[in-house]
Amino acid sequence: MREKLEQIRAKAMEAMEGLHDLTQLEEFRVKTLGKKGELTLVLREMGSLPAEERPVMGQLANEIRSTLERELSRKTAELKEAELEKRLESETIDVTIPGKRPALGGLHPLTIVLNELEEIFLGMGFDVAEGPEVEYDLYNFEYLNIPQNHPARDVQDTFYINDNILLRTHTSPVQIRTMLKQKPPVKIICPGRVYRSDAVDATHSPIFHQIEGLVVDKNITMGDLKGVLDVFAKQVFGSETRTRFRPHHFPFTEPSAEVDVSCAICHGEGCRVCSHTGWIEILGAGMVHPKVLRYCGIDPEVYSGFAFGMGLDRITNLKYGIDDIRLLFENDIRFLKQF
Ligand code: DAH
Repeated sequence: MREKLEQIRAKAMEAMEGLHDLTQLEEFRVKTLGKKGELTLVLREMGSLPAEERPVMGQLANEIRSTLERELSRKTAELKEAELEKRLESETIDVTIPGKRPALGGLHPLTIVLNELEEIFLGMGFDVAEGPEVEYDLYNFEYLNIPQNHPARDVQDTFYINDNILLRTHTSPVQIRTMLKQKPPVKIICPGRVYRSDAVDATHSPIFHQIEGLVVDKNITMGDLKGVLDVFAKQVFGSETRTRFRPHHFPFTEPSAEVDVSCAICHGEGCRVCSHTGWIEILGAGMVHPKVLRYCGIDPEVYSGFAFGMGLDRITNLKYGIDDIRLLFENDIRFLKQF
């Protein structure tokens, strides 16, 4: 029996040297020291030994067990250490490699120009007012003196939601909303998105943007309108810029005008941008129609006002020399990155 025990010890010590991972080590432990392991099997034979040899063999067996256990745990620690070492090596991070910069977004050209225009009007004492894009027919048309069957409804091809509700075709209904809840003096600009069922091309989009202006108070005249728009044009297009008023018709203003600015590209000489006229039309304007004031509960015998409406997309394109309105809505990053 002693021989068998010594053999187990020698074999085990040798075998352990050749083990290189933790699973093998565990298999080895079960095979050697487990309940059905080699050592246990030998000890089962203890019963057939003479009584005086039993304690001696028992002691030897215990000694072998604890030697092997000690060796096993040393080996286990060694392998664990090696495995950790290997993992750390493969996971090392080089903290000196330069980082990746996150791509920085920028403002959309429409936002840049809108901010600039708001700044100009705020400087002249205007407030900014906003209204909903889904609007009542009443505010988009009726109160602006555009009744059912009025020809002006034809030029504004409208997206209707039902008989009474539509996508606003201009920012003028914000005039109405403001005057209905605020008595004069009123001095606002109303920027916003508007909708018309137009076919898309270089100068038309079913979605575009306008900025409406409205001033109502006692003694407001066409001279005030001209003064405000002249200051505005010079600040946007340069101090050399001249403005010109051409008679026009809008149902909600009387008298009405279209306003041109001298071409900032050719300074009036005539070029491709101004179609060789030297002038560029940028907005519609006029004195608020007495009927519109009256609809909103403002007495036209006491108060008068002027209004104007301009296309933000058009002004943005003029400022940046963009020749296709579609670029403003396609969100092509190569285009947007230029601003
Ligand atoms: N609402 C007009 C349009 O969409 C623009 C406009 C013209 C607005 C004259 C005004 C104005 O306030 O006085 O075409």
